[in-house]
Amino acid sequence: MTVIDIGTDSIKAGRFKKRGKSIFIEGLSIKSLPYQTIREGRIVDEAVVSNRLSEIVNELKCRGDRIITTIPNNNLVIRNMELPEMDDKARLAEAIKWESEDHLPFPDEGSVQDFKILSREDGKVQILLVATKRDMIDNILGVFERISLTPSVINIQPMALISLADYQNNIENIVAIIDIGTSGTRVIIGDRQNIYLSRNIDIGGNDFTKIIMDEEKLNYIDAENVKKKNGIPEVLEEDDIESIAQMAATGMGQGHYMTALARNLAEQIGRSLDYYNMKYRNKIDRIFITGGGSRLEGLKEIIERGIERDLSTLDPFINIGYKKNISLKGEEFAVTVGLAVSEVLPDEG
Ligand SMILES: Nc1ncnc2c1ncn2[C@@H]1O[C@H](COP(=O)(O)OP(=O)(O)OP(=O)(O)O)[C@@H](O)[C@H]1O
Ligand SMILES: [Mg+2]
Repeated sequence: MTVIDIGTDSIKAGRFKKRGKSIFIEGLSIKSLPYQTIREGRIVDEAVVSNRLSEIVNELKCRGDRIITTIPNNNLVIRNMELPEMDDKARLAEAIKWESEDHLPFPDEGSVQDFKILSREDGKVQILLVATKRDMIDNILGVFERISLTPSVINIQPMALISLADYQNNIENIVAIIDIGTSGTRVIIGDRQNIYLSRNIDIGGNDFTKIIMDEEKLNYIDAENVKKKNGIPEVLEEDDIESIAQMAATGMGQGHYMTALARNLAEQIGRSLDYYNMKYRNKIDRIFITGGGSRLEGLKEIIERGIERDLSTLDPFINIGYKKNISLKGEEFAVTVGLAVSEVLPDEG
């Protein structure tokens, strides 16, 4: 099987083989996309994306494979609901449809819904409802269609990330996973059965790059390079700053803006965690971070300080076989590997 994650900054793909309940990586590929090829989760330049896709397919030699892909988190809604037990499948589906109207922020027409039965206990059915806009799906399928490929599965990224943690036996009780991408950050809280919260925060790697573009008057590519090289520059405490002129001369203004943005991100992550704690009165055991944006030097520490919790990195290449010559970039590939393991984990529903 081949998994393809079309991200804002790059397309990530992997070719996998099932070996019983584990998976083996046959090949990986990552192809970067030009700035603003994808905006707010929407593929604006379909030709560019399908060209890159075609390169990936040739490289991985995966044309005949079962293809698994994912939709962006923009306009994705995930809700838990509880319904009384019904034996009749069609009646249950109908009930879910009615209930979902109260849970969804956009109208029924133009939306695509799916649900997963999480558990049935004490005359109650726990359901995970997933919905997105139809045009988001058409947008993704469109780029595959251009190269005559039809994905067999479209899965959601929060599910892929939770599956990855589960596959690695990292879920004892409740975990949170923070995916810092280009366009935004996703906070997912779940356990082995359920996703309790999935939130999008619209601060991502891009926003740090934009500060450098503005402050140093650089183009996107150069600003990206500066960001990856310098990370978040250390800022002096206010007492140590002699003048604004000195701040500007040393490029410290940039450090201040980046630090402020990182603190803002930490605060919003903290709010999601607090919301979960309040609603479910449950403790989150471990918090993982992933996504290319989490490699920004200094960011992890700022988040840790902000939320007063330690963060672990979610290494997708644990418990997985791969050829020695594959070069691995863990943060970028968590969703890709997660989508692959979702296909081998037993379906609880
Ligand atoms: N060493 C690094 N230091 C700082 N930032 C980095 C580093 N490496 C990658 N990034 C940033 O990570 C982001 C890309 O991460 P990732 O591939 O997870 O995003 P994506 O999947 O393309 O985006 P999205 O999920 O938002 O659609 C970019 O903003 C990039 O600048
Ligand atoms: Mg991503």
